Order: sequence, then C-alpha cells, then structure tokens
Amino acid sequence: MAALAGIPLLSGCFWLDGPQSTFDPNGPVARHQQDLFYLTCWVSLAIFVIVGAVLAYAMIKFRAKGDAEDFPEPAEHAHGNPMVEISLIGASVLSLVIIAIPTFKEIWYSYDVPVENKADAYEVTATGYQWWFKFDYPSETAQTLDGAGRIANAPFSTANELVIPAGRPVKINLRTVDVIHSFWIPKLAGKVDMMPNRGNHLWVEADKPGYFWGQCAEFCGESHAVMRFRVIALGPREFNDWLNAQMAPARKLAAAGADVGKPKAQFAAYRTFARNEAGYSETFDNAPLDSWRMQQKAAPSEDAALVDRGRQLFNTKTCSTCHTVRGDGYIGVVGPELTHVGARSTIAAGLLENNRDELHRWIHAPNEVKPGNTMWVKGYIANNIKLTPEDEDALVNYLESLK
Ligand code: CUA
Repeated sequence: MAALAGIPLLSGCFWLDGPQSTFDPNGPVARHQQDLFYLTCWVSLAIFVIVGAVLAYAMIKFRAKGDAEDFPEPAEHAHGNPMVEISLIGASVLSLVIIAIPTFKEIWYSYDVPVENKADAYEVTATGYQWWFKFDYPSETAQTLDGAGRIANAPFSTANELVIPAGRPVKINLRTVDVIHSFWIPKLAGKVDMMPNRGNHLWVEADKPGYFWGQCAEFCGESHAVMRFRVIALGPREFNDWLNAQMAPARKLAAAGADVGKPKAQFAAYRTFARNEAGYSETFDNAPLDSWRMQQKAAPSEDAALVDRGRQLFNTKTCSTCHTVRGDGYIGVVGPELTHVGARSTIAAGLLENNRDELHRWIHAPNEVKPGNTMWVKGYIANNIKLTPEDEDALVNYLESLK
C-alpha cells in the first residue's frame, strides 16, 4: 500500500502544473491526448469498481460460517453459466471498443496537421545529437558573409531553443545523426522517437505565447538525463522580429554596454538556487517568457579587444571546426550553431542558464556538466586543448557578444 501511495509522489503527479506536467496541456494536440488518457482511466476505473464489488460480494456472502463450512465436501463439478460467460465476453469487448475507437481517432489526429490547417502550418526540422538538439528552419534564408565580405545566403538553423509561432500548427520533422532519441514537449504533445535512417514527425500548436520545457525521453547514452531543450512560442509580430534578428550574420561589436553581472533570472536548470541565496530570483519561475525576452535585449559586456581575442581563439583552439558562426567565417556543423548564442536563455542543451558564470563553467570543464560530450572527448582531449583563465574569459566575452 505504501509503495502504491508513493507512485503519485514519484511520478510528480502532485505538481499538476509543473514545468513538464502533461496534466497542463497548452495546445490542441496535448489536450486531445489528455482527454484520451482520462477516458481510458474512467473506463478502467469503472471495470475496477464493478469487478471489485462482485469479488467483495462473493467473499462476504460465501465465506465459511463455521467449522463445518471450513472443510466442506468438494462440490460436484458443474458447467458454467452460458449467460454469464457470454455477457462477460461481451462486456470486455465493449470496453475495449470504447477505448479503441477514440484511440485510433487520436492517433490519426496527432499524426499530422489536420488538412484544413495545412496551409497555415509552419515547418521545422529537429535533429537529435548526443546530447543536444538542432533546429532547422527550411523555409527561411539567413545571411552570412562570403570570403570577400559580401552578404551571402545561408541555411538557417539554431540549437536547443526552438522558437515557434503561437496559434499556428507547427510540423516538426524528427531526425537523428547518431542513436535513438525521443522528442518530448510535455505541455504541447506526447513523445515521438527520433530514429536512425527513418524520418518521423509530429505536430504541435501552442495556444498562446509561452515558454515550454522539453526533454529527450529515450535513453541515449551517459548524458541522456541532461539532454533538454526549450520551446518558445511567440505571437506573429514578435516571431517575425525574432526571425529577422536571427537572419543577420554574427553581430560585430558596437557600443559599450553596461548591465553586467546582475542575475537576470533564475533558470530551472542544473543549478537551482535556494531561496534567499545570493543569485536567487523568482523572475524566471514566475515569468519564464519575460525572462527570455529580457535575454534578447540585455546588453552584454562589451570589451572590444577581449571579444576580438575570443573570436581569434575560437579559430586557433579549433572551436570553429565544430561550430558555425555566420559572418565570422566559421562553418563547423558537428556542434550547435552559435551565431546568436548570446540571445538564448540557456546553454548546454537547456541545462545551464546563459550567463557569464555558466559560460565559464561550461567551457572550463564541459565533461563535468555533461559527461562524455563530444566537445570534451573529440575536441579538448583529441586536440589537446588547454585554455588559460584569460583564454576562457576572452571566449566568454566573444560568445556573450553574439546577440
Ligand atoms: Cu537523447 Cu536521451
């Protein structure tokens, strides 16, 4: 009984509106899936009550009432009651049908954007990597600089924070470059696997602008548990503004800014601050979308010499073999795209808040944050990369400047 009572505790059912709760659907797909879940629960509950009641009735009514009945003569073998048997079979079939019809309906519904909404659908492609997510926007064309410094076109992709238009169906193609991952945004839709050599997809729609937590839901190696992502849904205008800002090549240092070192918001991530601890703030918990917007605008520290040194180190320390920074001549595709990494609210696949301290910590010892990750194993170790504190500082300043 204690173990049973512990199930809701362990499964987090008591936080029905928690960041990754499926009981708080924020879109039609998640809502349909929740309705089906409840229907199944109610049918099961009805069966449980009926069977339990009959069992209890039989146990009480036919219990032994004395020594004589404790050791009765075995009853003569009797044949079953056909009426009872047929009606039990009928009832079982009926309850399965009651569950099956809406199940098939919901499978069709969640499989793809309904025909009548197809024209309005936005399409992106999510690709799983050990251990982060890449998001491609096939319908957008971004800008970069060619060898002669002229504007040229480039495909647009980003990482770990999927920004989508709210109130519009979004079809998400699911791919993986290595092992099986599973793509899951609990408040928007159920999970669908990313399979090697097989194209999967799902669709979601966010009712209104919001900030949603996502998580890889299939064991995919040692850092599976920290393979997270975020989905940010924006109204049409704001979505367009975001796209336009993202299309631009990497920002070159402009004016000197202030506003350094102030904790902008607490991100529910790897490190959670205790109430009253230095750095604790409720801003994020109360309004994650507003915090994300703040991150878009917050001015980074702007030490032009340091940023420049970081940009060069990015090349000499071989970061550029794996990462793309459009406009700075870096075109690696093994790791996350970083052209506008400074505008994201998180780094390290949704694990760490994007601020100077966490950037330092991440590039100082990525293996301590995400064991086994490629940057550490195939970058730092393979290329024997050592970063002095000054190098790290320059790189942090450079990354932070990429708004
Ligand atoms: Cu990717 Cu678990």
